[in-house]
Amino acid sequence: MIKHTIKGGLGNSILLIGEYFKNVMTYVPEGLPVLFITDDNVYQLYDRHFQVNDVIRIGTGETIKTLDTVRHLYQELLNRKADRSTFIVGVGGGIVCDITGFVASTYMRGLRYGFISSTLLAQVDASVGGKNGVNFKGYKNLVGVFNQPEFVICDINLLKTLPKRELLCGFAEIIKTAVIADESLFAYLEQTQDRAENLDGDVIEKLVCESVLIKAHIVNADEKETGVRRKLNFGHTFGHAVEKATGMPHGQAVSIGMALALMLSMKIEGLSKESADRIIKLLHQFNLPVDYNGDWEPIFNALEKDKKKAGNHIHFVLLKEIGNAIVKKMPIDNLISLTRQYNSS
Ligand SMILES: NC(=O)c1ccc[n+]([C@@H]2O[C@H](COP(=O)([O-])OP(=O)(O)OC[C@H]3O[C@@H](n4cnc5c(N)ncnc54)[C@H](O)[C@@H]3O)[C@@H](O)[C@H]2O)c1
Ligand SMILES: [Zn+2]
Repeated sequence: MIKHTIKGGLGNSILLIGEYFKNVMTYVPEGLPVLFITDDNVYQLYDRHFQVNDVIRIGTGETIKTLDTVRHLYQELLNRKADRSTFIVGVGGGIVCDITGFVASTYMRGLRYGFISSTLLAQVDASVGGKNGVNFKGYKNLVGVFNQPEFVICDINLLKTLPKRELLCGFAEIIKTAVIADESLFAYLEQTQDRAENLDGDVIEKLVCESVLIKAHIVNADEKETGVRRKLNFGHTFGHAVEKATGMPHGQAVSIGMALALMLSMKIEGLSKESADRIIKLLHQFNLPVDYNGDWEPIFNALEKDKKKAGNHIHFVLLKEIGNAIVKKMPIDNLISLTRQYNSS
């Protein structure tokens, strides 16, 4: 097991990679009453780890990441007489973690809480960084808080029941992290892709650990996301637009977004073709898509819609070389016209 303390302005988080779900009580302060929040899928698969009375269940899917679910959870906490001594543990993927973090941070002005991350995406991405929240009126994560869980258990064994398509979302984020910040992690991914996909314990532990440490490092340098943290959005500008317009899973959409960002990086930042090809090849190896053959107009429309929120410019992440990303303020119209040119060439 790898144990690492992430120090942040918002408090410390203990990260436990390779720890087991069943040991969770070791990390809950002694004597405190505990309530678990999980989703229906995770509950069905792992009900043996819960007691009937200590678990609150929510549904699944992005559509339940709403204030209605938050209200339901406040009510459940009230019914169960949760008070400021109650410790909350969210068990699940990014959705459970995002909602649990928000509910725990706001109920009675904040309860203590931790996570057991059960998807690869949550392990490498959602459970570090202190962002918690829900969607509102179609805007993703519009309502939320920055707050760190006291611990995050990344139980690698839980990934064995995860559907392949969910695993891919996690791999896309790991590749993204390596691409923006760590050439040696990228080379490790190239060498271990087979073992990673087969969930080899040592490989997954290392990948989760390295990605989380890189994210933690970047986040610590910029906890409220004003500067360097934006690098974590590599592939996400177009990725989110593709996801919104086509309903494609996040990881696949981000993979297409990364491929586009690579093309733009070659044009604007002089990224070498060799490096871009290496990244495209790795995405291929992980069965992630690198192009989209459907209609791009709805995708451009989704990007245009961002203008309402962010103005005419967007902080776009470009790559100089593998492991070295930069953030550039670019007009959205410019990004769209470059992509149009590329698609028609
Ligand atoms: N807070 C952050 O920094 C951050 C970062 C990245 C993503 N997110 C958020 O995370 C969410 C996506 O997270 P996700 O991809 O983990 O999705 P998710 O929570 O919906 O989980 C994916 C699916 O896998 C199921 N599942 C979870 N664990 C399982 C297991 N061990 N075995 C079998 N099935 C399992 C879930 O029930 C769900 O159906 C999005 O809402 C996104 O906005 C947040
Ligand atoms: Zn992402």
